[in-house]
Formats: sequence, C-alpha cells, structure tokens
Amino acid sequence: MSDFEKNPLQDLDHWEDDLLKRYPEPEVKAKEDYRNYVDSERQNTVREFYRLNHKYQTYDFVKEKEAEFLQFNKRKMSIWEAVDFLNTLVDDSDPDTDLDQFQHLLQTSEAIRADGHPDWFVLTGFLHDLGKVLCLFGEPQWAVVGDTFPVGCKHSDKIVYPEFFEDNPDSKDERYNTKYGVYEANCGLDNVKMSWGHDEYIYQIMKDYLPEEGLYMLRYHSFYPQHRENAYDHLMSKHDHEMFKWVDKFNPYDLYSKVPTPPDARALKPYYEDLAAKYLPDVLAF
Ligand SMILES: [Fe+2]
Ligand SMILES: [Fe+2]
Repeated sequence: MSDFEKNPLQDLDHWEDDLLKRYPEPEVKAKEDYRNYVDSERQNTVREFYRLNHKYQTYDFVKEKEAEFLQFNKRKMSIWEAVDFLNTLVDDSDPDTDLDQFQHLLQTSEAIRADGHPDWFVLTGFLHDLGKVLCLFGEPQWAVVGDTFPVGCKHSDKIVYPEFFEDNPDSKDERYNTKYGVYEANCGLDNVKMSWGHDEYIYQIMKDYLPEEGLYMLRYHSFYPQHRENAYDHLMSKHDHEMFKWVDKFNPYDLYSKVPTPPDARALKPYYEDLAAKYLPDVLAF
C-alpha cells in the first residue's frame, strides 16, 4: 500500500471537519465561513479517504484487526502518557488545524462539564478519541477514523459516499450483502461487527471502567449512519435505542465544542487527574 493510500488526508481532523459540513450546528454562526474555506483540493482528499475506507473495510478485515489489536499488547500507558502520545499526531503542515488532539478532548469534556452532566460523562468526553493512537501504531487513516457502519450485512445507502461500496468485495458476497447478512433482525449491536476504527478500540480498552451509557458513547460516536440517519434500526434492540439517547446527547459536544480559545490545560489537569483516578487504573493496556 502506498503512503498516499495509507494516509490520504493531510490531517486526520479533516474527516471531522467534513462531518461538520454534513451536519452543521443547528443555529449556525461561525460555521458559515468555515464551510467556505474548505477548499476543493481538501474535498478531494476526503473523498479519496472514503473511497479507501469503503473499499477495504470488509468483514474479514475487521476480524483481522480485532485479532491483532484486542490483544492489547502494543503499549502500556497511563491516560496522560496516552494523551501525550496522541498529541504527537499534530500535523504542523496544516495551518488550519490550530488545536491539537488534547485540546479537542478537553474542549469536548469541558463543554459537557459546563452543562452540569455527571462526572463519568465528562470523563467519557475526555477519553473518546484516545483510540486514534491506532494511527501511531502504523494503521492507515481509513482504519482509524471515518463514519463507522456494520460489516457482514448490506451497506446502507445512507452511509456517506455509498457508491464506493461497489469496490468492497463484501457487496458481491451473498453471505454479507443481504439486509441482515450474518445477523438476525434486531439482534442488538453488541452482536454486530462494526467497521474497524478508534471507536471500537477505545471501547474495548475502557469497557470495564465506565457506566454502560458512557461505553455506548465511546463505541458508537462515529456511527453517523445510525445516530444521524437511523439506517440500521433493523439491527438495533430496544436496549440499543434506549442507550442511543446518550450517544445522541454526546454528539453535539464532539462536533460543536470547538472554540477559538484553547482551554487552559495546565489549570485543568488536576481536575482530570482526580477524575481519571476515580474510574481508571493507573496503567491501561493498548
Ligand atoms: Fe472520534
Ligand atoms: Fe472527537
């Protein structure tokens, strides 16, 4: 795989920037100029990113990645080491990205805290993108970020750029290309394999430590085809629908919490240290 195939985006955040264009904040103000400045060259790289994502994220690919990464034998890190590690992802070549990954996490969690939500919700916001360290383990961007979707059954045409699934071998495989594929009606998402990326990875790392509502937020925050488009109701259980109220609650904090002034990381660190100590072990296995 060429370098470009591995990393078509100039910056990993360009996927999230594209989400903002598709799902702008309801009472848009500052986002207006934002939408204009995203140039067509960048749009092409985002398109290419989705082409690769839709082509290569097959049922077997997900199984392979699970077998590899769910051994958690890559690196042992405290939360702070993981945040520092993730921050090495910053791409200085992109002048539009003025906030680093740590600041995105802090802005998300601080916006949740400002609205008076429970502390585990704040912590969930702070952790939600730590799975992006996958990029630093050499994974291609399209196996780390991007809207997620179920594999093993028909791809919904509500997924962004649905035409690119033409090149996905699963769409020609009759085990996987029917409405339910390998699943049963309303079997529940816990029984459904999602395209591989930072959501599933961080969920698996955190699954013993946070309340179920927070775990749903981690695991499905990029599942736009469901939480924005309701394209997979037929796989969801009643319980999933209940829990997705929390995924919905989380999403605006992820997408719309970017503010121009970066949070004061140093001043906030003691609060987050206590919060992490309350819920998490000192060292986590990635
Ligand atoms: Fe994310
Ligand atoms: Fe995020």
